[in-house]
Amino acid sequence: MKPLSLHFLVSLSFWGLARGEILIPEPGGPYAVGYNTMKLVDESRIDPYDPGHGKRNVMMSLFYPVAREDCQQMCSINYMPPITATFEDGFAAELGLTLPNGTFASINWQSCCKVSHRGIQAMEKFPVVLFSPGLGGSRLLYSAMAQKLASAGYAVATMDHTYEGVVVEYPDGSYIVGWNQSYLEYLFDPAFPERVESVLDIRVQDAQFVLTQLGQLAVVKSLIPGATCAFNIGHSGFYGHSFGGATALAALARDHRLNGGLNLDGSQYGVNQDIHRPAMLFGRDDPHSHNRTNDATWAAVWDHMKGWRRELGLSHSQHTTFMDAPLLIKMAGLPDSDVIRGILGELDGARAFEIITKYVEAFMDFALKGRRSELFSGPSKAYPEIRVS
Ligand SMILES: *[C@@H]1O[C@H](CO)[C@@H](O)[C@H](O)[C@H]1NC(C)=O
Ligand SMILES: *[C@@H]1O[C@H](CO)[C@@H](O)[C@H](O)[C@H]1NC(C)=O
Ligand SMILES: *[C@@H]1O[C@H](CO)[C@@H](O)[C@H](O)[C@H]1NC(C)=O
Repeated sequence: MKPLSLHFLVSLSFWGLARGEILIPEPGGPYAVGYNTMKLVDESRIDPYDPGHGKRNVMMSLFYPVAREDCQQMCSINYMPPITATFEDGFAAELGLTLPNGTFASINWQSCCKVSHRGIQAMEKFPVVLFSPGLGGSRLLYSAMAQKLASAGYAVATMDHTYEGVVVEYPDGSYIVGWNQSYLEYLFDPAFPERVESVLDIRVQDAQFVLTQLGQLAVVKSLIPGATCAFNIGHSGFYGHSFGGATALAALARDHRLNGGLNLDGSQYGVNQDIHRPAMLFGRDDPHSHNRTNDATWAAVWDHMKGWRRELGLSHSQHTTFMDAPLLIKMAGLPDSDVIRGILGELDGARAFEIITKYVEAFMDFALKGRRSELFSGPSKAYPEIRVS
């Protein structure tokens, strides 16, 4: 099953990154982007995966828009904290790859780290968008995408699903190592679909919990010091990659606070009821096509998508293209190789990143702000790589 190998592929894809700092470019949208992370503890749930039966917790990152004139200082921020970065390096080494130590630790991005009082007051007007990563993946491997969406005017909350992600690292430096490969294979055994449904169900509950928390002033104050209002969570969006994409549509079907859901290239589980709000499947066009003709789980969910619905296909992409990886590989200046093409497809990495984030933004603009876009009515001259149906 494809999602199982995702983490391996991602590690592999960074093999050969040159040493030295990589700075992800500022996304250049109308807003600068503020950032914080937080460990949220759900007092109402025992973590079913925790051998010690503790409360379920979720690590989240919040990327929030700041009007340019309200941003008083930009800072360079580590793409991932140190343990996670070492994990990503070391994991490749375990597989017998010589990834230079410090590769992931050398990636940085730019955030607005000092926001004026007026900028903080303006926060409540931005719709919330949730993000859930692929199985075994880290939310941090999607931060550039989240930052891009935030710069268009969304408060984007990316989350890890504890024990599923290869490692989840907390602000105090502690961390939880996720399930091993053989346990993942046990959970995703196609003969026992109820196991997958159960993992998905915990993810949906994680997402609903994060959304509820963003509607609490105390939580928003910890994330954005000086905030005087919580977010308006009754009109939110959700996108995700791979199993996270399945999570997004499953949550959309169940939670009326969500007004739109987008699945980036993930086989779908957990939708057994009709969805009446905007929903989109964003897969792959030729030559590595993934669509509702060749994925029965997409054909099934398509029939449940009774509101506005679209299926998109990005040509010359692969499953791992729908992450930050293509952009980072491009920025690292790696020469084209069969390995990279096998993982990321034949599209230019920066171009792939631009197209995917453009369509994600247009979808949220439609679902949450009611802005119609020509991009969804058929082929686009600006983006001929996309097939719309
Ligand atoms: C990375 O660091 C570890 C531990 O310090 C070391 O064992 C390993 O050889 C290093 N790998 C590379 C590629 O430098
Ligand atoms: C994998 O994880 C399972 C469940 O936690 C555990 O029972 C098993 O011993 C682990 N296997 C390996 C090879 O570490
Ligand atoms: C899915 O891809 C195949 C292969 O390119 C194509 O024949 C089929 O028409 C596509 N289906 C949709 C719904 O786009």
